Amino acid sequence: MKILSTTAEIQAYTKEMKAQGKTIGLVPTMGALHEGHLTLMRRARKENDIVIVSDFVNPTQFGPNEDFDKYPRVFDADCEKMETVPVDAVFHPEPSEMYPDGYCTYVNVEGDITHKLCGAQRPGHFRGVATVVTKLMNLSRADRAYFGQKDAQQVVVVKRFVADLNINVEIVMVPISREESGLARSSRNRYMSDAEKEAALVLSRSLRKGEAAYEGGEKNVEAIKKIVSDEIKKEKLATIDYVDVYSFPELLPIETINEPTLLAIAVKIGKTRLIDNVIIGGDTK
Ligand code: PAF
Repeated sequence: MKILSTTAEIQAYTKEMKAQGKTIGLVPTMGALHEGHLTLMRRARKENDIVIVSDFVNPTQFGPNEDFDKYPRVFDADCEKMETVPVDAVFHPEPSEMYPDGYCTYVNVEGDITHKLCGAQRPGHFRGVATVVTKLMNLSRADRAYFGQKDAQQVVVVKRFVADLNINVEIVMVPISREESGLARSSRNRYMSDAEKEAALVLSRSLRKGEAAYEGGEKNVEAIKKIVSDEIKKEKLATIDYVDVYSFPELLPIETINEPTLLAIAVKIGKTRLIDNVIIGGDTK
């Protein structure tokens, strides 16, 4: 596995791969890899000649009071996991390589889709994501890029700017990877104590309750939101950031569920903010 740490190195590598007629799959990550990331990589492995993973904690998508400094950086362990896929190349730049002195260009998705859900709680977050993903797509010359459904809003935002800016990359959304307990895999799970991890099961449990109610015939959005919120409130370590329902992938407000619909939650367990979601009412592709 090649380790590329400068933009010049990755550009030279991808130029050569393209010259050889290879297809390239990009898996953008911030490292601290878990089974969910590996699922994205394995999918990319199946569908492309070359798999490139970016392992970069992107400073521009963190707010001033967020966990940028604390975000886990475990590159050696990440490399061992990537070797098992296997991955052809990992791009692991320093922040100053991606944002050198004088850097001043950002991709800002201005529609309503960035102002709700996590966008409402994290101003500037999607501007940072859109900027770094655009750069990574350019550097990697990817044919396809892989994202997890856990960040469903991120997938919607990425698809939006890829369409708006005529970027020739296919965006693939991969289903949420869960531990046996139901907990959605996340690099932030490692912040939690055992007791908090136990409490965090309320996220997937509450979503399952919401989904079961829908499957039992409940189509009213407010009723479903109440079922989910009431379940979360039973857990004393949990504080709700949001419980929301929108059409998917448009992310428009709806009152009744009769189309593919995103039921998404953000919940703090102690100090750790977790998100999870389920798509109900239709084909998610
Ligand atoms: O989902 C993530 O880990 C990040 O938002 C991404 C897509 C790697 C951009 O930094």
